[in-house]
Amino acid sequence: MTQRIDTQSIGELNPPNRLMLTPGPSSMDPRVYRALAAPLVGHMDPWFKGCMDDTQVLLRQIFQTENRLTMPLSASGSGGIEASVVNTLEEGDEAIICVNGIFSERMAVIAGHTAAKVTKVEAPYGKAVDAEDVRRAGKGKKIKIVGLAQGETSSGVLTQIADFRKVADELGALLVVDTVASLAAVPLHVDRERVDICFSGTQKAISAPPGMSPITVSPRAEEVFRTRKTKVQSWYFDLSTAMNYWGKERLYHHTPPVSLIYALREAMRIVMEEGLEVRWERHRVNQLALIAGIEAMGLELLVKKPAERLPTVTAVMIPDGIDDAKVRNQLLDEFNIEIAGGLGPLKNKIWRVGLMGHCSQKPYVLLFLAAMEKVLIDQGLRVPSGAGVGAAVQSYTQARSEAVGVSR
Ligand SMILES: Cc1ncc(COP(=O)(O)O)c(C=O)c1O
Repeated sequence: MTQRIDTQSIGELNPPNRLMLTPGPSSMDPRVYRALAAPLVGHMDPWFKGCMDDTQVLLRQIFQTENRLTMPLSASGSGGIEASVVNTLEEGDEAIICVNGIFSERMAVIAGHTAAKVTKVEAPYGKAVDAEDVRRAGKGKKIKIVGLAQGETSSGVLTQIADFRKVADELGALLVVDTVASLAAVPLHVDRERVDICFSGTQKAISAPPGMSPITVSPRAEEVFRTRKTKVQSWYFDLSTAMNYWGKERLYHHTPPVSLIYALREAMRIVMEEGLEVRWERHRVNQLALIAGIEAMGLELLVKKPAERLPTVTAVMIPDGIDDAKVRNQLLDEFNIEIAGGLGPLKNKIWRVGLMGHCSQKPYVLLFLAAMEKVLIDQGLRVPSGAGVGAAVQSYTQARSEAVGVSR
């Protein structure tokens, strides 16, 4: 006889409905939940092949590319990093990775699992790497890839791609860009900016569930894949064979997460209904209001240069004497709002407030600022009454008078 557990004591699944103002995942639109609940079909079903076509059309729009090799990998964002480096790098190659936080560091770590030589060009957490340092590090060397994170989620830093493209051109290198925390929230034109490999995650500004990593590869990078001397060290992430399934032939490679693809398709339809420019502007305006509120409450930001602030993740310095976990727990218990703490060297030093995709909305910014005021006062900080919400309202009023077509 097998042992039987009492399912009554485990209970039906009933997760709390949180407001996720985290650096990912973000809350989802009800339409995306409905897509998740749609009937499952087989991954070789002719109907599903049409659904895959739609997914690729939408992905190309969001990446602003015509790249043939554009698909969602069956993996979280880290899988996108892995696929980018293992397909490009082999023995004898050299890579330069720009490191200014945990996730760009992860790209260097994963590249270090290949046989290539990896050089890190670093900036302190809270700042963007200087493209000039990359130029210096690569001088006189044959560099295969320059890698960077457009949005460094661990510190809330935005990196401008253009200067790095220029340096990568001088070095004859491919440019690999992590847009896990920035795609569909921050201006990006993969073709125009000539990004060779660009990957993202579904759970952030696209506001689909976690578990997929959209990736796009330029014809130039595809040529590099074709002329490799050695096999790609990972079977699963070998993009030339994975593309047999996402390419014209639709040959079986592995069983993809069909329901996640439904959800991604619907989430991207929502992105394109809004329009990329309007969405980028919405993220910018909401972060400006959040920052105005945070600063009016007397709090400081980690990223000092406004041009280096990532619109999806705002890193707030934790004031002396205030307990990181107590504040986050009270926000969760009393207001059902989740924010994140710092990672690695920034643990206990910053809070990370995410305004991504579905969560980048005016009502949520105002609710968060009001809730934060209450929590900080309860935790013993003197906060000017109503200052946060007041400053955010003023920021919205100013944005409206300047604005063109921000819908939320
Ligand atoms: C910029 C960046 N890159 C990569 C990752 C890794 O993604 P995942 O946790 O989905 O594997 C993250 C996750 O937060 C990220 O923010």
